[in-house]
Amino acid sequence: MNVLVIGGGGREHALAWKLRQSPRVDRVFIAPGNAGTSQEGRNVEIRPSELNQLLNFARQESVGLTVVGPDEVLAAGIVDLFENAGLRIFGPGKEAARLESSKSFAKHFMVRHGIPTARFGEYEAAGVAKAALDKFEFPLAVKADGLALGKGVIIAHDRHGAEAAIDDMMERRRFGDAGRKVVIEEFLSGVECSIHALVNSRSCLVFPTAQDHKQLYDGNRGPNTGGMGTISPSRHLDAGLLKEIRDKVLDPFMDGIQKDHLRFRGLLFPGLMLTKDGPRVLEFNCRFGDPETQVLLPRLKTDLLDLLEATITEQLDAITTEWDTRCAVCIVMASAGYPGDYETGKTIVGLEKVEQVEDVKVFHAGTERRGDRILTSGGRVLGVTAIGDTLSAARKRAYEAAEKIEFDGSYFRHDIGSI
Ligand code: AMP
Ligand code: GLY
Repeated sequence: MNVLVIGGGGREHALAWKLRQSPRVDRVFIAPGNAGTSQEGRNVEIRPSELNQLLNFARQESVGLTVVGPDEVLAAGIVDLFENAGLRIFGPGKEAARLESSKSFAKHFMVRHGIPTARFGEYEAAGVAKAALDKFEFPLAVKADGLALGKGVIIAHDRHGAEAAIDDMMERRRFGDAGRKVVIEEFLSGVECSIHALVNSRSCLVFPTAQDHKQLYDGNRGPNTGGMGTISPSRHLDAGLLKEIRDKVLDPFMDGIQKDHLRFRGLLFPGLMLTKDGPRVLEFNCRFGDPETQVLLPRLKTDLLDLLEATITEQLDAITTEWDTRCAVCIVMASAGYPGDYETGKTIVGLEKVEQVEDVKVFHAGTERRGDRILTSGGRVLGVTAIGDTLSAARKRAYEAAEKIEFDGSYFRHDIGSI
């Protein structure tokens, strides 16, 4: 079977790498991919926003399964487009993808189906939002309703900060149309974690746990990023807590999509806060996490194609999944300036030194090939993943590998998996 992976980051490199290992996969296409994915299959020069071109390509190349990485492509309705054309694709339909692309849609879904989440209000005018601040205590969270590259949440510690965030989103439209509506939420404290589960209308298969490190600097300080590193398993989730999450979040979610007739055959990745009163859902992501995928897939022993296919054919119950019991750590190497403005076009050296190292895999994110050089082309450049018998062994191996790779202005955190 030919498969098409849509996207060009580290998550998509990991998906393409794993799919290529399937004995049933003939060709892997990645649109648009990066320098790393070109070693797993063929990069295709189509932007993820060009849905009709992607459809034409999938038809021409007899693609048997398309896997979508980025949330905005799901929100644009690619799953409906492909399915209406009779092509198989992994991901939620456009309406179900609103669980990620609209915070207020997700909040109403949670309230309707009894899924624990923070108390909230939604507002379509700045004046009304500001007046409503009286109903909350500080700190509180101000959220742009739509997709904002993970930057649309401001934790405000006082009225001044909250009003500035509301103005920024609603008046100055810092996140464009994503800020037409805002959600204001009570602040939750606790440990943050997330889970990944394959979901269709009949069943749900939960992956081992993973944990992201979202802040830029060591000690979980500095601005939020797309993710600076991950570990798997997480150190905060035990079997008891997982059972509670299944009972309070996943089971009601499965009931909810049935009752609301939401077409969801893809990956559900809820972000959770483990509060003293139990888990609360912060958000739903409807796609694989980046860089969570870079620690989950190296631990997966089962054929990923089997899993993705079983999700869309509603046969997940028939599958036994095997995971490597060892630990994985992924260190993200970023360009200087990320998550703000960053430079690109820097030559990356040292990749060949880690290519042959056992239990280490470098997933490319913002890279491009120019002749025989590999250059940086994005904020997050590489994800260096290592496996080890213990978390600290995996950590040590990942850092030893990351130290061998260099580019101008390269930055990574030094405490992934030890905080
Ligand atoms: P979200 O995109 O909704 O997951 O929010 C991004 C980040 O903001 C989360 O990962 C949390 O760190 C933080 N956050 C969001 N909502 C809340 C909340 N109600 N209380 C505390 N922190 C929050
Ligand atoms: N690592 C966080 C995300 O993919 O949203």
